[in-house]
Amino acid sequence: MNKTYILGIETSCDETSVSIIENGDTEIATIISTQITTHANYGGVVPEIASRMHIENITIVIEECLKQANMTMDDIEAIAVTQGPGLIGSLLIGVTAATTLAYIYNKPLVPVHHIAGHIYANNLVSKMQFPLIALVVSGGHTELIYMKENYSFKKIGGTLDDAVGECYDKVARVINVPYPGGPLVDKLAHIGSDTYNLPLPLDDNTYNFSFSGIKSAVINLAHNEEQRGNTIRKEDLCCSFQNRVVEILTKKTMKALKEYNVNNLIIAGGVSANSGIRDKFTTICAHDGINLTIPNIKYCTDNAAMIGAAGYYAYKLGIRSGYDLKAKATMNLY
Ligand code: KG4
Ligand code: ZN
Repeated sequence: MNKTYILGIETSCDETSVSIIENGDTEIATIISTQITTHANYGGVVPEIASRMHIENITIVIEECLKQANMTMDDIEAIAVTQGPGLIGSLLIGVTAATTLAYIYNKPLVPVHHIAGHIYANNLVSKMQFPLIALVVSGGHTELIYMKENYSFKKIGGTLDDAVGECYDKVARVINVPYPGGPLVDKLAHIGSDTYNLPLPLDDNTYNFSFSGIKSAVINLAHNEEQRGNTIRKEDLCCSFQNRVVEILTKKTMKALKEYNVNNLIIAGGVSANSGIRDKFTTICAHDGINLTIPNIKYCTDNAAMIGAAGYYAYKLGIRSGYDLKAKATMNLY
């Protein structure tokens, strides 16, 4: 089989990442330069700082990736880049770098939706089996997506308000857990007990989610305890919160699996790094004989390997952009 190498570029938030992927499923080299320690000083991502750091890093990361792969641009068939959604100033750096490379080396330029990238991180674990259901859980998205075949995305439900990762980060802030909040709440949840009475969010018959209610419940609980002079048992609150989130995500996803006859369940996005989600889905799917795929931890959060993987299928389908490619802060996948 011919080998097609795609150079992927991802700069939608605070990771400058470049990767070379073979045939959409094999990683040759990936560099991820994270800005997390810089933004931690401010308690969250500062967009202006993020784009400035992308400018400083991008050419170094491209060179480093080619070096690690022991390749030159002659080996690369096409360049795939995250077009959106994300921070516009950050996206712009990746898009400009990709467009410039495509122009100089005369390579096809392939725009990739960030969430398509998260989904295709699973193809680096094992070939995605269609039709499938994808549960996308990230800082900006919480969606159930049906995919009949490669690059066909049909939304069957999604959050009506906050994304699950956003909710994790808010809970972290309320209980004074430092940035990045989600992974630390996950850690605390493991050493705590489920003792706080929090509501199960939007427990209805639809495939939609709502996390603003549980977020408000945590905020109110923290304020009430503070006013009474009580200290919150952070581990227990994190455990109760995480249990409720995991319960509703598994409940609605399993319902979707019953309705849609699929060959694969995949989980995608930064929150798929959550150990509560990974453990619960692994247990249920093993019990029910469901073919479950979850990305390796390294590829749950933002990275360019997923863009190279998705970019390969987009490229094979003839998706191309001119040199006038525009970064988009908001962008529809469907
Ligand atoms: O996919 P991602 O890197 O960026 C977006 O595209 O949004 O996801 C980042 C989100 C953040 O909200 C972060 O707190 C959350 O993923 N996250 C986690 C965990 N690791 C990352 N949330 C809960 N548990 C984790 N272990
Ligand atoms: Zn992401």
